[in-house]
Amino acid sequence: MRVMVLGGTGFIGRNVAAALRARGHSVVIGTRHPRRALARLPAGLRDCDLRETHLEFLTTCYAWKPLLAGVGVVVNAVGILRERGRETYDRVHNMAPAALAAACERMHLRLIHVSALGLRKQALSGFIRSKILAERAIAAGGADYSIVRPSLLDGEGGFGAEWIRRVARWPVHFIPDEALGRMAPMDVRNLGEAIAVLCEMRNRPDWREVELGGSARRTMAEHLASMRALHDDRPALRVGIPRFLARITAHVCDLAHFSPFSFGHLELLRRDNAPRVNLLPLLLGRAPTPVGREPRELRPAYAFTAMPTGHQTPVPPSPQ
Ligand SMILES: NC(=O)c1ccc[n+]([C@@H]2O[C@H](COP(=O)([O-])OP(=O)(O)OC[C@H]3O[C@@H](n4cnc5c(N)ncnc54)[C@H](OP(=O)(O)O)[C@@H]3O)[C@@H](O)[C@H]2O)c1
Repeated sequence: MRVMVLGGTGFIGRNVAAALRARGHSVVIGTRHPRRALARLPAGLRDCDLRETHLEFLTTCYAWKPLLAGVGVVVNAVGILRERGRETYDRVHNMAPAALAAACERMHLRLIHVSALGLRKQALSGFIRSKILAERAIAAGGADYSIVRPSLLDGEGGFGAEWIRRVARWPVHFIPDEALGRMAPMDVRNLGEAIAVLCEMRNRPDWREVELGGSARRTMAEHLASMRALHDDRPALRVGIPRFLARITAHVCDLAHFSPFSFGHLELLRRDNAPRVNLLPLLLGRAPTPVGREPRELRPAYAFTAMPTGHQTPVPPSPQ
């Protein structure tokens, strides 16, 4: 099977492409910068075909047709954190995927569209609204599609994932008081594999909306603690950021184009971002790879009994 991975140089796209290759499929990578792509791709993907793709200009069904020649399945793993010139949320996240879905319908191609969890229509951020509109447009069309909504991702080389790994090592964790939503952090390699399996399905209306996540449910504070526990058993000092201050900081980050944090992120952190039904184990045929490590205070407590000598011996918890 020949699969086009749009955004195939990105964090998710690279892992989808690698999983497809591992399953014996041929991969075409869509990228804005084919020359630079060679340097960004891992060695095992450098011989993939590359096609220059700028979603901001691909807002009609006809514009997509020549790009999709010869492929049977398209994975859309394109996303922007910030708007720049013509690369607006509306064009890149909404208009182009809607046109892509129309092209897939006409050309009888399967479409896997990577979206996100926690998209509430009441959300104020343009980032979130554009993703909701794309989901609606794809669902309203007649293409053979699956919309994939992963929870927060961990792995090598992801912009947000690397930030979280770095911040987790700090001795102090600054957490917005509002960030009470629970996520199901997952390994990006599991996502790549799950999407590769979805590519192989055809006309399965029961796989239209696919929510994926890891096995643990954690708030952002707990996720940072579990990522820190991989390197350091000493817990970080947790400092809460009041609501007004977190909002001002988010807006300042938006104005300064400082990407690790934004108003969209804050909106997502406020509510649960975990799958309602986690289809990841079903797609993988096994339990998801654990992300992070339960910090000491969250691990099952061992009871201590005082010995007559003054020593203390740990007693493991009873089996039930
Ligand atoms: N990372 C997460 O934790 C996570 C979780 C849930 C959902 N998601 C969603 O998944 C999507 C991808 O995330 P990611 O983490 O893989 O992002 P990423 O690493 O930034 O990759 C995005 C890719 O999109 C391509 N791209 C950007 N603008 C483009 C444009 N105008 N035209 C064509 N291609 C363009 C880029 O490829 P080139 O530079 O080669 O053109 C880039 O490789 C996003 O929509 C994100 O919201 C991410």
